[in-house]
Order: sequence, then C-alpha cells, then structure tokens
Amino acid sequence: MISEKDFIASNYTISIENGSFEWSAPSNIALVKYWGKKEHQIPANPSISFTLNHCKTITKLTFSQKQKEEDFSFDLLFEGKPKEDFKPKIQKFFERIFEYCPYLKDFHFTIDTQNTFPHSSGIASSASGMAALAMNIMSLEKMLNPGISENYFYQKASFLARLGSGSACRSVKGNVVVWGQERERTGEANHAEISESSNLFGVEFSSVHENFKEYQDTILLVDKGEKQVSSTVGHDLMFGHPYAERRFEQAHVNLSEIKSILENGDVENFVKIVESEALTLHAMMMTSMPYFILMKPNTLEIINKIWKFRAETQIPVCFTLDAGANVHVLYPKKNQQEVLQFIKGELVAYCQNGQYICDEIGKGSQLIMDN
Ligand code: DP6
Repeated sequence: MISEKDFIASNYTISIENGSFEWSAPSNIALVKYWGKKEHQIPANPSISFTLNHCKTITKLTFSQKQKEEDFSFDLLFEGKPKEDFKPKIQKFFERIFEYCPYLKDFHFTIDTQNTFPHSSGIASSASGMAALAMNIMSLEKMLNPGISENYFYQKASFLARLGSGSACRSVKGNVVVWGQERERTGEANHAEISESSNLFGVEFSSVHENFKEYQDTILLVDKGEKQVSSTVGHDLMFGHPYAERRFEQAHVNLSEIKSILENGDVENFVKIVESEALTLHAMMMTSMPYFILMKPNTLEIINKIWKFRAETQIPVCFTLDAGANVHVLYPKKNQQEVLQFIKGELVAYCQNGQYICDEIGKGSQLIMDN
C-alpha cells in the first residue's frame, strides 16, 4: 500500500533557474459526502464526487531560483492584483507540504489565480484552487525530476491538494472520483470491487454507465453570502457527535451502492442515495453542538418543487447540497431541455438575483501553459 513516505521528493536536482506553468482545476460536487476528518484531512469516511467542467480555478505559477532561506517566498495575485488576505492560507499549505516538496524553499514564486465563477457566489473555491496550485507544483517537480511517472504525478498532485483542502483531492481527475479507504467486504463474491482507493488521494472511478456520461449540474445560487460555518468548524462538529459512528458506517454502505448504481446506470436509485446524502449532511449539522441550519427557506422551496416536478414528469432530476444553502440540480443530458425550462420557469425565482450556473461532469485538471 502507498504511504505518505512515498510522496517525499527525492532524486531531484535544482538546476532550473526560472519558468512558469499554468493549470486549471475544476470544482467538484460530492454524491457521498466527506464530513468529519482526522488530522491533515484524513477523512472519517470515504466519499465520491462528480468533477465539474466549467466552475474552475486557473492558476499560473511563475518561479525563479533564490538562495535557500528559512521561509517560503511568494507573491499572491488574484485576478492580477495582489491579494494579501489569501496569503496565510497558502503559507500554511506550503508549510504542510514542505516535507514532501523540499524544493519549495529554493524558489521565489508568483501565484496568479482566478476563478471562472463569481467570487462571492457561495461556491467554495478551495477545492479547485488547491488542486490548481498542486498541479503547478507537480509540474515544477517533474522539471526537477523528469523521471517521475504520470501515475505518480497525478497521485501526488491529489495528495498535495488534499493537504490544502480535503475535497480538493477529488478535483485533480475526472469524471468521477473516489477518495477514502473503502472497507474490505470479506466473504462476498464481489471481492474484486476493492479498488486502490486511499485516504491519501483521490482515484478515478472509470466504469461509469452511459446514463451518467455528460450528467448535468445546474447550481442554483440561493445564498451568495459568506459561509456561515467554515469547513474546519464543520468537520470538527463530528467529534463527539452522537450520530457520528453510524453516519460513517452509512457513508461506506452508500458509497458501495452508488458505485454499483454508476456502473449499471440505475438513475432511480441514484436519486435516492444522492438526496439522502445531502439531507444527512445537513441533519448532522442540525444535530451537532453547536447546531446549525444552513438551508434557507428558498432551499426548501426548491427541493419541494424538484420533488413535484419529478413525480409529475418521471424525469430523474435530483438535488444535492454542500455545507450551504445553494442547490445543485443533477440530471441526465438527454433531459436538459425540459429541466432547464423547469428551472427557468419555477426555480430561478428562488435564486439570489435570479442567478444560477450551468455546469456538467468534466475531465479534471488541464495544463494550459508550460514553459
Ligand atoms: C460538505 O474539503 O472544504 O463539501 O478538508 O477542511 O478543507 P477541508 O474541508 P472541505 O469539505 C467539504 C465538505 C463538503 C462535502 C464534500 O465535498 O465531500
């Protein structure tokens, strides 16, 4: 089994003076949720997500060699302008990954980052942001050590992204990614199911049925405000939570079921697991101490409308939620026209300033520029 030690960079030479790379990495939407963690984003349960296509962070990393000093040296730009308040997060990220990337103190970096989605949309940019930065760092590592394999390149990128923000490790690859050690299901015929899944990085789940290819995710922006509960506080709520252990158990079962569903194309059962996971995530927040309600009245209005529409049309449209009030509406590409018409006619009224974002399942991080 791969361990943390396998990701400590070795056999590299610092013979490169300067250069730059540019990568994009998308956001992702979890179907089985990661909620609860141990130190350094080791998840309390495994999760699975759709990688998105349009909501992305684009990050350019420029580097030049310097004398090795005690501290990291970097400038941070957001949309081309210096952004001091993002710096502590990056500083902390560098500190965390330094053990695995000791070359980071040999360079001065300029990190220039932008998102394709509005900054204050309530869509978290930490997953796409950390993934895009991790890709750039791996491009640098590959320059310093051209011998590393493609597999190692992506695994370590996901590993580094995870140290920045847990869900970021699911943004390196597409279209469906599993993160977290699955339980051995001994005694079952289907033993081969145990994949190479790991707590350390995300792995691609490739046997996806035709029905889920090109799946659509329309994100309804119900509340664009700052997150009421930061993810750090949120995950901490699972410590000593009365239902934590049962929830972690349930996530294992749901992951195993949803993998079969994604393989055999069973959209009806997909809907059940995905909506139950979203509501369970919120139920965990409502039953923790302190407790939170992160849905807004309009979130509930939307959910009820989706249920009504589904019952009337038999179109397998469903919702999921992150740790906030926005609603992700998931549906097959072939139903796009009817669902978009429904969204425009009945759901947009519940969105802040009528705003929503049309996205779909996508491929993962992309190299934009390499020189
Ligand atoms: C509700 O990945 O943002 O979106 O590891 O503390 O950075 P940190 O948390 P983060 O948590 C995401 C939680 C979630 C569910 C999910 O994406 O699986």
